[in-house]
Amino acid sequence: MPNPEGRGRASRTKPPAPRRLVVTAGPTRERIDPVRYLSNDSSGKMGFEIARAAAERGDQVILIAGPVDQKTPPGVIRVDVESARDMLGAVKTAFLGSESRAKGSFGKKGGDALFMAAAVGDWRPKRRLSGKWRAKDGGDEVASLELVKNPDILATVGRRKGSRLVVGFALETGSGLKRAMAKLNRKSADFIVLNNETALGANRTTVAILGKDGSRVNITNKTKRDVARALVQLHYSNSAPAE
Ligand code: CTP
Repeated sequence: MPNPEGRGRASRTKPPAPRRLVVTAGPTRERIDPVRYLSNDSSGKMGFEIARAAAERGDQVILIAGPVDQKTPPGVIRVDVESARDMLGAVKTAFLGSESRAKGSFGKKGGDALFMAAAVGDWRPKRRLSGKWRAKDGGDEVASLELVKNPDILATVGRRKGSRLVVGFALETGSGLKRAMAKLNRKSADFIVLNNETALGANRTTVAILGKDGSRVNITNKTKRDVARALVQLHYSNSAPAE
C-alpha cells in the first residue's frame, strides 16, 4: 500500500500538503476518416468528479480529457485530447515529467498521482482515410476495417511510476473481480476501481476499490461525487477508504 513520506500519519495531525494530481477522463476517439471514428459511451463524469474533489482539497490538478461534454471544475488545468496516442503523450508529459512549462505540465518533477479514469479505446484503424470512406469502397454487402492495437497508457506509465500512486479503473461486465485483479498486476497499479457498464453516463455508481495487497472496499450506490472524494483520499491514507 503506498504511503511514501508517512502520509497517513501526517493527515491525522494537520491538513496534507497539496499534491500534483493527473486525472484522465472520457472516451478516446480514433478516426476512420474526416467524419467517422471509433469511440465509446464514456461520459467523463467520474474523472471530472475526481479532478473537482482533488482541486477542492487544494491539490494542483491536470485533467486530460477525451471528447466530452463536461464543464471544467474550478481551479483545474484541462488538456483536451482526441486519440489514445494523444492521451499517452499528454499523460507522459504531465505525470512522468517534462522540460516543458506548457499548460499541461508540472515541469520535470511530474505528478504525485495518476487517476486513469478514461475509457481508452483498445484499437484504432490501421489507416486513416484522408477523404470520406464511400460505400463503394467496401464490398457489395460486407466491408471490413483493419485495426491495430493502441498503446496501453496505464501499463506504459505504471512501469515507470516508482513510489507514486497510480489508480486504474476496470469496467467489467459481470462480476469481473479476477479480471480486475489481473489488470491491477499487469498494469502496475496500486489500486483498481472495479465498476460495471451501469456506471456509463449515470450519476450514481457501485464500485469495489481493490488494492495491490488484496484489500477490498465496496462503495454501493453512491454519487460519483462521493466516490471521487473517497478516491482522492487514497492518496493520504495507508489503506483503501472505509465506506
Ligand atoms: N487503459 C489504458 N490504456 C489502454 C486501455 C486501458 O491506460 N489502451 C486503462 C484504463 O484507463 C483503465 C484500465 O486501463 O484505467 C483498464 O481499462 P479496461 O478498458 O477495463 O481494460 P483493458 O486493458 O482495455 O482490457 P479489456 O478491454 O480486455 O477489458
